[in-house]
Amino acid sequence: MMRPDDRARLEAESLRRQIDALGQWFHNINLQGVWTAPDHFLGDYPAVKWRGFSDALPSDLTGKSVLDIGCNGGFYAIEMKRRGAARVLGLDSDARYLEQARLAARVTGQDIEFAQGSVYDVGALGERFDIVLFMGVLYHLRHPLLALDLIRETVANDLLVFQSMQRGSADVAPLKSDYDFFEAAPFDEPGFPKLHFIEGRYSDDPTNWWVPNRACTEAMLRASGFAIVGHPEAEVYLCRCAEKPEPGSVYPAQAPREVRA
Ligand SMILES: C[S@@+](CC[C@H](N)C(=O)[O-])C[C@H]1O[C@@H](n2cnc3c(N)ncnc32)[C@H](O)[C@@H]1O
Repeated sequence: MMRPDDRARLEAESLRRQIDALGQWFHNINLQGVWTAPDHFLGDYPAVKWRGFSDALPSDLTGKSVLDIGCNGGFYAIEMKRRGAARVLGLDSDARYLEQARLAARVTGQDIEFAQGSVYDVGALGERFDIVLFMGVLYHLRHPLLALDLIRETVANDLLVFQSMQRGSADVAPLKSDYDFFEAAPFDEPGFPKLHFIEGRYSDDPTNWWVPNRACTEAMLRASGFAIVGHPEAEVYLCRCAEKPEPGSVYPAQAPREVRA
């Protein structure tokens, strides 16, 4: 007869092996006392980030549908389900992260769907969600505004929870709606919207492409048809779907005029 202490130790060792078999984790999640990324370079991530904005989201998500784009190891998807969301779909382009998320959901007892796919293909989901999480993905994209446009046009129904790494000034310069062609000085203001392009690597990561400053983050959200309704943490924005400013985007693609019926 095995003693309870020995059984618990064997279960923890088995879980440790399953966690380690899925490679390095970005999300540090407590799976029955076993942590998935205890040596994360950002500390207890993303719990430290979540603590900064969790109170800004409804504590009761009963009946709500949630899409977590770039769900990674499933930390936020699990938190949404813990708040009672009726349906949570975690989407990520990386199969290994999805395996991690599936393990985390299973061990924490949360019924969450996961699917492999890119933010550029969210239209193929064919449905809108009450809450869309788009956290920590924008700067990994070669086409960040396209992604925001597609989210607004195809899957966002109400609330967008957005986060991006930001670099550069945290100032937000007042913007005019138009500038004369020879008026170049505003571009040199630190608080003018700026999207910094990374040709090589940043933080040893070749998938970091565009890093906005604060003014640019906010301007891109507005330009994609999101109204910023909350800014609970420096990098986190709560947005509601709003009218998209003109001239707007030219996609989803339309058939060229001559081949239209
Ligand atoms: C920095 S992690 C952020 C994870 C999580 N959302 C968070 O905030 O902690 C970026 C995630 O976005 C995913 N990702 C990158 N490009 C993507 C794309 N085009 N479509 C969907 N997910 C993508 C990565 O695989 C990774 O899991």
